[in-house]
Amino acid sequence: MSQDSKLLGDSPQFTALLRSLQVASATDVTILLLGESGTGKEQLARFIHDNSARRNGPFVAINCAALPEQLAESELFGHRKGAFTGAVADNPGRIAAAAGGTLFLDEVAEMSAAVQSKLLRFLESGEYQRVGDSACQRAEVRIIAATHADLPARVEEGRFRQDLYYRLNVVPFQVPPLRERAGDVPLLIRQLTRQLAEHHQLEAPRYTPEALEQLERYSWPGNIRELRNLCERFLILFSGKTVDVGNLPAEIRIPGRKRWHVRLPESGLRLEELEQELLLQALEQTGGNQSRAARLLGLSRYAFIYRLKKYALL
Ligand SMILES: Nc1ncnc2c1ncn2[C@@H]1O[C@H](COP(=O)(O)OP(=O)(O)O)[C@@H](O)[C@H]1O
Ligand SMILES: [Mg+2]
Repeated sequence: MSQDSKLLGDSPQFTALLRSLQVASATDVTILLLGESGTGKEQLARFIHDNSARRNGPFVAINCAALPEQLAESELFGHRKGAFTGAVADNPGRIAAAAGGTLFLDEVAEMSAAVQSKLLRFLESGEYQRVGDSACQRAEVRIIAATHADLPARVEEGRFRQDLYYRLNVVPFQVPPLRERAGDVPLLIRQLTRQLAEHHQLEAPRYTPEALEQLERYSWPGNIRELRNLCERFLILFSGKTVDVGNLPAEIRIPGRKRWHVRLPESGLRLEELEQELLLQALEQTGGNQSRAARLLGLSRYAFIYRLKKYALL
């Protein structure tokens, strides 16, 4: 995959995030990136590094979910030759490799208990030991961690150390899912298609307005990763041709499906309060015109007024 470091997107949700990240980049604080898979957390970690005073130092990423427990420990902290079967040579580890730069701990929630406590010690003292080595190593790194998991819930369940959580959760950022990045889908399709076309030396496909509309309505559970893969697939299969609704995968083509910007907060909400809020917003938007406000909510005027009365809003 080509490493285009340009971050695409100009929705208010995304540009606001970039602005805050830029401010945080100037400092050396630990940053925690929270967000669904494929939302760009690794890209953003690179962005932070590239905007920091460490930009000329190394950026080293380690995916804590991709490695079995023992390998994760020796990948991160290194090992001595002969420390375990297969340790045929000394390995300085990723922390050492990141010295003077940034260490990106991806999927940090998946770290085993042993690695968590070793990492905590390193974060508190700057010291660690390689596997099979009693000597203390020191390294100076900036930490960026990322996860799609609900870390406080993991702490509650006893699967993630609370003290480590506090160490990592110094400055948390929520990376918005694609479905909440208003207007970014068409822009990403256009620009990713252009980049990929150049990369593969192929003529870009065109998308009909109807196809684009369906793509914009889709909820993109795999976020930018899913969108990018789809753009690549269409580039290969429809190079120089036109992609219409009928060519879209079935899950995207569900007719009449609405893309809601509303998300139920994890802490829940009171449905009746939400209803009151929407009733009032409808009145606000229509300057108090009850008939039009009712229509905005798909209600008869009578049903609308009934609800206003029920909540004593009238
Ligand atoms: N803002 C962006 N602009 C362009 N491509 C992006 C952007 N964010 C993510 N991507 C691409 O989407 C894919 C997933 O990004 P990644 O950073 O690995 O997400 P995560 O770490 O959150 O799972 C990668 O191919 C990445 O290059
Ligand atoms: Mg990732």
